[in-house]
Amino acid sequence: MTSLFFGGFMINYKELEQKYSTPLYVYDENKIIEIMHDYKDNFKSDEFNTKVLYASKALSILKIYRLVKEHGLCADVVSGGEIFTALKAGMNPQDLYFHGNNKSPYELEYAISNDVTHIVIDSLSDFNHIEAAAKKLNKKVSCLIRLNTGVEAHTHKFIVTSHIDSKFGMLIGSKDLNQTLELIKKSKYVILEGFHSHIGSQIMTMEGFYAAIDKLLDYLKNFNEVLSLNIGGGFGAKYTCDDKPLEIKAIVNGLIKYTTEKLHQLNIKIDTLMIEPGRSIVCEAGTTLYKIGALKQTPNRQYYFIDGGMTDNIRPALYQAKYEGYIVGKENLPKRLVTVAGKCCESGDIIMEDTYLPDAEEGDLLVVKSTGAYGYSMSSNYNKALRPAVVFVHDGASRLAVRRQTFNDLIEGEIDENI
Ligand code: LLP
Repeated sequence: MTSLFFGGFMINYKELEQKYSTPLYVYDENKIIEIMHDYKDNFKSDEFNTKVLYASKALSILKIYRLVKEHGLCADVVSGGEIFTALKAGMNPQDLYFHGNNKSPYELEYAISNDVTHIVIDSLSDFNHIEAAAKKLNKKVSCLIRLNTGVEAHTHKFIVTSHIDSKFGMLIGSKDLNQTLELIKKSKYVILEGFHSHIGSQIMTMEGFYAAIDKLLDYLKNFNEVLSLNIGGGFGAKYTCDDKPLEIKAIVNGLIKYTTEKLHQLNIKIDTLMIEPGRSIVCEAGTTLYKIGALKQTPNRQYYFIDGGMTDNIRPALYQAKYEGYIVGKENLPKRLVTVAGKCCESGDIIMEDTYLPDAEEGDLLVVKSTGAYGYSMSSNYNKALRPAVVFVHDGASRLAVRRQTFNDLIEGEIDENI
């Protein structure tokens, strides 16, 4: 299997390597589109509006915002830079929801003056900054308040009582929240659109989401207006054979059903229900292609050294994230225990520790699977490594989405009077 089956078409990794070189991020565009539609077409209700916001921190390049726009999703953005990129890709500013615990006055003014007027309030102080920016520009903004429901989900479990010191959101019943609501009532610029909650990431069961919906709707009962709810993202993706994420259709059907029943029970209405998936849209559609450069046997370990590493995927070093991969052309050969390490001056620069791969030779191509989320978007130039190229494969044809950096890119912005 030197080829990967991409959306019904075979793509040859050797050809990709010849055309674009390595390390290379390769995305299956057909798969991303399919997942976007799985979300959008199934997350529907007769009783309230629905919106799917792609959490763009998972991969925030022009190409993905373009797909988000073309396939009718909205996006969650968390910085001036993400807003800039989304707008450059042609997204409607009204389809962007601006998050963040410390949006700067500059970012807020940039957002609001570009008609990005859906903003998520994270704290009382954040509210003050949002109002000041809206007032300065004499524009109205429509805000969700991020609530800390106390529900925290860790992949398979959830806890309802922890999390009170979270960096994000306001605790239900807190003085800050009540004061923010009072200030919104008096504000000429900030309109209350509703509430938001995000309980965690890589979640494999529904209970945490249901517990958060309970908290949000119980809270909503205190309001006379018909408001909107955003229940965040965090739906799991499959990195290795140990991960068992739920199907997207089952997730969104479950959310709609649970919310509808609870609304009936409480006899209240909502305007719009929103979700914010990031990882589950791009993770499994992305792979990284590396070349094995050097090999080394230590007393206890066989190393395969690749031409990338923590600069294009920090997740193993940062979160002990696990990945699986294979060597192109050697898929069916017997495997043994090896460690795949990157080329940074850092012992922790390991992409797969104690993984099973066949014997390798210098020049072999290694594919690491499910690297599509938070890989490229968290990449860095540590050791002045070049950020890799990103390629999207659609209906069998590959297209460059981001070109590989050059040495000159590395000093762009640096000031040296002698150059
Ligand atoms: N909404 C909010 C408010 C969020 O904070 C996040 C993720 C999402 C949505 C999307 O969550 P997702 O569906 O992608 O799980 N760098 C880490 C992940 C950080 C997630 C931060 N917030 C990683 O590589 O695993």
